[in-house]
Amino acid sequence: MQDNIWTDFARSYDQMIPELNCYQQMLRKILRDTEGRRTVIDAGCGTGLVSQALIDRGHEVVGFDNNAAMLRLAHDKKAAAPGEARDRWTVMDGHVERFPAAVARDADAVVLNNVLFYVRDAESALREVFSHLRPGGVVIATGPKRRPDLQKVLRHSIEEWQTEGRYTDALQAAVAHHTTCARKLTTDPGEMVTFFQVDELVGTLRRLGYSCPLVADGDDYYGENYYVCMQK
Ligand SMILES: C[S@@+](CC[C@H](N)C(=O)[O-])C[C@H]1O[C@@H](n2cnc3c(N)ncnc32)[C@H](O)[C@@H]1O
Repeated sequence: MQDNIWTDFARSYDQMIPELNCYQQMLRKILRDTEGRRTVIDAGCGTGLVSQALIDRGHEVVGFDNNAAMLRLAHDKKAAAPGEARDRWTVMDGHVERFPAAVARDADAVVLNNVLFYVRDAESALREVFSHLRPGGVVIATGPKRRPDLQKVLRHSIEEWQTEGRYTDALQAAVAHHTTCARKLTTDPGEMVTFFQVDELVGTLRRLGYSCPLVADGDDYYGENYYVCMQK
């Protein structure tokens, strides 16, 4: 397990991130592209926001992460789920460059939602994904195309919250804490290390043996992020 910037992010992650319209838009795409795919691995699951949404739609989910504070919140969500849902949800420690040995190698989908930017050897992670997918299964990878413009995402989001009348004191406090962490994340060259243009990621995945891109766009987070769903 790692003690890194995500330990600090964990303090406001669930108060801020699910409130972002741009996060919810990406989540809807993940739910669309995993529909009918029963078993899903949520690699770098963080606090379990994506896992929870998948569980709510009846999937079997294995989520893992290498930050204890983020993962603690995923464990809490699982513990609060009804018994039948808990049985479909596995949460464990693990690195995306080398999946935990207990993770089965026949998943219908693997999700890497906003994770690869923190991974030095992204190709190792994408190879691990490949070896844990059944033929026809899909990888869904999302993340920034370049070092993100934090102000742009925040400005848009705050404008939306104000228009929607939900920029509450609690949300403002979460934004203040998140902004401190995010400033370090986005400016320290040792923190965010891997960015992909859409075509570049599709090309990398083809080289690693993936076949057909089902979705490949650069629309999310106000045009800052890629979203690629590609089949094994
Ligand atoms: C921006 S958060 C995204 C969390 C989650 N996927 C979501 O959509 O809310 C990035 C997560 O990736 C995790 N992470 C980063 N590098 C990792 C690695 N090498 N192995 C496992 N988890 C990693 C961090 O601990 C953090 O929880």
